[in-house]
Amino acid sequence: MNANIEAALEKFRALLESQLVRVEDMKAQGDFTDYSSLDTIRIGVCGGDGIGPIISAEAERVLRFILDDMVKAGRVTFVPITGLTLENRIAHRKGIPDDVLEELKSCHVILKGPTTTPQKGSGMPNIESANVAMRKALDLFANIRPVRVPEEGIDWVIFRENTEGAYAVGKDGINVTEDLAVDFTITTKQGSDRIARIAYDYAAKNGYKRVSIVTKANIIKTTDGNFIEDCRRVAAEYPDILTDEWYADIMTAKLVDKKRRTDFGILLLPNLYGDIISDEAAEMQGGVGTAGCANIGKRYAMFEAIHGSAPRMIAEGRGDYADPSSMLRAVVMLLSHIGLQDRADKLARALDICMLEEKKIVITGRPTGATCAEFGEYVMQTLASL
Ligand code: IPM
Ligand code: MG
Repeated sequence: MNANIEAALEKFRALLESQLVRVEDMKAQGDFTDYSSLDTIRIGVCGGDGIGPIISAEAERVLRFILDDMVKAGRVTFVPITGLTLENRIAHRKGIPDDVLEELKSCHVILKGPTTTPQKGSGMPNIESANVAMRKALDLFANIRPVRVPEEGIDWVIFRENTEGAYAVGKDGINVTEDLAVDFTITTKQGSDRIARIAYDYAAKNGYKRVSIVTKANIIKTTDGNFIEDCRRVAAEYPDILTDEWYADIMTAKLVDKKRRTDFGILLLPNLYGDIISDEAAEMQGGVGTAGCANIGKRYAMFEAIHGSAPRMIAEGRGDYADPSSMLRAVVMLLSHIGLQDRADKLARALDICMLEEKKIVITGRPTGATCAEFGEYVMQTLASL
């Protein structure tokens, strides 16, 4: 056999073996962490790159303000995690250096600023994205991205599968010859089932009447086809919720159709479609800078912005004018996840006042608007007045 094909098959074999190990790990997993049973909740904070350290410091400041009594009582502790920088990742040639991963694993939940992902051909080593590495290493399988524009009737929650699809082995594609390259997309029954369950459970608990499954199963027949079948199986357990199925291309079109888009509620998607559609959806809410997300696993959870590290803002000296809204929205989700729903609701209310209603100070990303710290101050003042 052609030696190139032999070599590619060896890589493919290793890849399949590692995915079967992952399936066994999923089968062996226990239940979600019960935060109410913990004496102390450890919240790790990773600043990240670019504007990351600026907006995450502000988010931490607001979170400490909200949790002040619990910090004083020793019920919550903050753990600074400083090693998740591009420089340190390059030095270790790893998406997450081993000692940083240990620190992350010593926490229950993580608040993470955006990290820079080196692209192939950028001159930087081709290390894996820190986000993707963290989602996989901590098995954070559900990426939950709410998008709300109340005055337009938009109230969507995107449930993006977070560990599989095109991302599972995205860094392990094979250049078979100089001319032929292959990438892989992965779907497992366990992976599809668990994202569907968390989406339907959320829909049922939060009064959403409709779940829309979004794939390209007309083309990517095997993996997307299985994803739909596994989701339908879960849907059958929720007869009061309407389930419909869409292809990702027409869904991107319908989300800009003002007459139709208010019908949608929960969107349930494989990883890559979820990545793309969540940026489109966030743009309608005022841009990716306004959107936060939760990355939930059985054992760990991580909360972050949906956008990148905005290196251009730093290069142009505008870092202090970065908008912390996305990270503050992520903090709402963190509070809710650890069972502090009242505090989450209060922060959500304060953010709505500051970002959508009163808008006493506005961030423009430039000296024409408020600084990140001024906005954080405004949010804390608003919180104190509620
Ligand atoms: C996101 C981001 C990441 C992704 C990047 C930064 C790796 O776009 O969280 O949506 O592709 O998932
Ligand atoms: Mg994205």
